[in-house]
Amino acid sequence: MPRHVVLLLSGPNLNLLGTREPEIYGTETLLDHVQAARGAATERDWDLEHRQSNHEGDLVEAVHSGIGRVEAIVVNPGALTHYGWSLHDALAAFDGPIVELHLSEPREREPWRHLSVVEPLATARVAGEGGAGYPKAVALAIGAAADSGGSGSSSDPGRPS
Ligand code: DQA
Repeated sequence: MPRHVVLLLSGPNLNLLGTREPEIYGTETLLDHVQAARGAATERDWDLEHRQSNHEGDLVEAVHSGIGRVEAIVVNPGALTHYGWSLHDALAAFDGPIVELHLSEPREREPWRHLSVVEPLATARVAGEGGAGYPKAVALAIGAAADSGGSGSSSDPGRPS
């Protein structure tokens, strides 16, 4: 049996976590968050793949590489959350649960952060919980994939049409 895989995507500037605006994003590094996320996947006997990029096209290609191969996606798109329409379109082509994840709560910050292009595609959203959000988002993604038969099929009832 092939292993179940959840893909974690990290957008621009998240590679700087630990030193980037620690009063907003905390002092844990991206590696710390990926390890916590992977722990939540491993506990459920899933694999977790991670990709961080500062370039929208890389993240688009990472989504493409997941289509038909991974069963769920957790995405913290960084600032692409608010304007990354090609990332939106790539995620719209992915046939499985998508969990939107943020360390901070963008809705409580500057008005330009209030729009999320990912939100209409997301089966769940985790925001404002800091690093604790990473394992939580992975658990939600895996739970949603399992509920939809673990195949990431379009029969997923949580997926907006
Ligand atoms: C973020 C929130 C975004 O508005 C911001 O551009 C980020 C990080 C978060 O995790 O809180 O880079 O996605």
